[in-house]
Amino acid sequence: GDAEAAEHFIHAGHMLDTATGSVLDDQLIGIANGRVVSVAPRGDSRVPEGVRVIDLADHFVLPGLTDAHVHLTSDATIQGHTRLGRGSHRAALFGVRAARDTLAAGFTTVRNVGAPNFADLALRDAIEAGDFPGPRMRVAGKSLGMTGGHCDNNLLPPEFGHRSGGVADGPWAVREQVRKNLKYGADTIKFCATGGVMSKGTATGARQYTLEEMQAIVEEAHALGMRVAAHAHGDAGIELAIRAGVDSVEHASLISPASIALAREYGTALVMDVYVSDYILGMGEEIGILEESLEKEREVGQTQRDNLRRAHEAGVRIVFGSDAGVYPHGQNGKQFERMVDAGMTPLETIQAATIHAAELLDWAEDIGRIAPGFHADIIAVSGNPLEDVTKLESVAFVMKGGVEHKVPDAKKLSP
Ligand code: ARG
Repeated sequence: GDAEAAEHFIHAGHMLDTATGSVLDDQLIGIANGRVVSVAPRGDSRVPEGVRVIDLADHFVLPGLTDAHVHLTSDATIQGHTRLGRGSHRAALFGVRAARDTLAAGFTTVRNVGAPNFADLALRDAIEAGDFPGPRMRVAGKSLGMTGGHCDNNLLPPEFGHRSGGVADGPWAVREQVRKNLKYGADTIKFCATGGVMSKGTATGARQYTLEEMQAIVEEAHALGMRVAAHAHGDAGIELAIRAGVDSVEHASLISPASIALAREYGTALVMDVYVSDYILGMGEEIGILEESLEKEREVGQTQRDNLRRAHEAGVRIVFGSDAGVYPHGQNGKQFERMVDAGMTPLETIQAATIHAAELLDWAEDIGRIAPGFHADIIAVSGNPLEDVTKLESVAFVMKGGVEHKVPDAKKLSP
């Protein structure tokens, strides 16, 4: 690294190297043009006169986190039929606040896996233009799904003729929808391989798209340079999605031992949202989640946690993703503890939200590590998250691309 070139520095009391898992003490991180340019022990470095050093000597510093499964345009407090009254413009504006809250929680990158009417693309572009703060975004645009499936909307009776924008049936229709998403700026494809919890009239266990349709989606998306995420709870859909070549299976709640082995063989990442169950079952009635959905959550919630343990033990690549938007944005960090409950070490959960997420999002050279050349996406907590992973629920410092978005509470700093 080139400390001479640094525009400013961070002095990290402790710094996690996510690639090796080692903790380095008393480091000086040099930053220029939004990227890290140097990392070195403070003793070996000389800070040129007048160059600012951000003091995080009392903090534990790590790379900004990634949540690979969010819906920033989705308001968790509006559920069931009430959601039908929310247009995509209102959803996009809600997303402004969700983006800010997500960034403030230490999540400097998200993969937004589906939004109405391309609202997520507007959000991404506005954040990139600097209109308001928010995380880096990978965006899926309209989620693809079969007629009447989890990625459709089945709340209204037939005379309204309502359906979600990404509904497409048949191999050529799904290819067309992939192309439409690309046309408007999506960089990721999301489709529904099974029914879901929050949708009306869908069975979590049943497969939705056929293998032929899934293969068409994956082949088209990969040919056009986009990664593919498949929503799947039931094992029939999980197996087909893995065989079709998806990059990640979302939820994976009812995955069988055979499909766990298959995911390992194919190198498929599993993005298992093991926190959200607490919110759905805890708040569901109050906020108007359909009784049908609560019933489905009771069936899949605990099994998903048991299966995270099995998949992790079998060596499947686990990537952090939480389905924020089904629960309130900014509480993403609560999932770390649930992942530790399922047998992952705190370090493994952090790697799931940094280096492994970076790889899934095709940003392995840009995010997930604090090292020369990587974006200066850097967060800090007080206390050691490798000893107590719940430290990640209250992030004290957030920098994205070299810009500070949150600084430690002054009261806590002065003794
Ligand atoms: N969006 C997902 C669905 O509706 C949420 C699943 C939440 N439940 C869970 N145990 N992860 O299917």
